[in-house]
Amino acid sequence: MLNIIVLASGRGSNLAAIQEAIEKGELPGQIRAVISNKKEAVALAFAAAKGIPALWVNPKEADGRLGYERRLLKAVEEIGSDCLVLAGYMLMLGSEFIQGYGKPILNIHPALLPAFPGGAAQKDALAYGVKYSGCTVHFVDEGMDTGPIIAQTPVPVLDDDDEEALTARILAEEHKLYAKVLSWLAQGKISRQGRKVTVSGGGSSL
Ligand code: GAR
Repeated sequence: MLNIIVLASGRGSNLAAIQEAIEKGELPGQIRAVISNKKEAVALAFAAAKGIPALWVNPKEADGRLGYERRLLKAVEEIGSDCLVLAGYMLMLGSEFIQGYGKPILNIHPALLPAFPGGAAQKDALAYGVKYSGCTVHFVDEGMDTGPIIAQTPVPVLDDDDEEALTARILAEEHKLYAKVLSWLAQGKISRQGRKVTVSGGGSSL
C-alpha cells in the first residue's frame, strides 16, 4: 500500500485521475494529503470533497524559498508518506528539501523530456513544429524537469492543432501514465541506477 502525498498548484486533473485509479483498485495506495502553495487551487477543493486532508502552505508567509520548503518538509514529515507526487505543482524544489525528504519524488511533465522543459511545454512544442510530443513521468532532482525519466507516452501533433487541442490530447495520456507509474512504484517494480530507470516486467512506455 503506497502512501502518497500529492503536491498541486492548480486544476488537479492528474490528482483526480490518481484518486480514481485508487478507487477502482488499479493502484494499491492511498492519498494521505494534498498540499498546495495556492489557497484557491481546485486540487485542494477536490481533496476536501473526497475527505482527504487538504493543506495550504503559503509561500508568502515563509522566510524566502528555503523557509517555505522547510515548512513544507515539516508538514510532509508530520503526515508521513512513501513518496511525493507532483501533479501540476508549479514550483521547483531545492536540494535541502529533496535530500531531507529522502524518498522518491515524482513529477509529470507535458512533453517528451528532455525536449520542452518549463512551464510552456505544449506551446513550445507547437512553435518548434515537432510531429510528436507527449508526456513524461520522472524522478525530481534539483533541475527544471531534468530528473531521471521513468516512463513516457508519445502523442501525435496534428497539422491543425492549437495549444488547447494538443494540451487536451496530452492530458488524457498523462492521466493514464501517472496512475500506471504509481502502480509500478507501489509494486516495487521501479529501480534506479544513476539516470537509468528500469521497470521490472516491462514498462517505461504505454
Ligand atoms: C499537467 O499538464 C502537468 O503535466 C503540468 O501541469 C498540468 C497540471 O494539470 N505540469 C507541468 O507543466 C510541470 N512542469 P492538472 O492540475 O490538471 O493535473
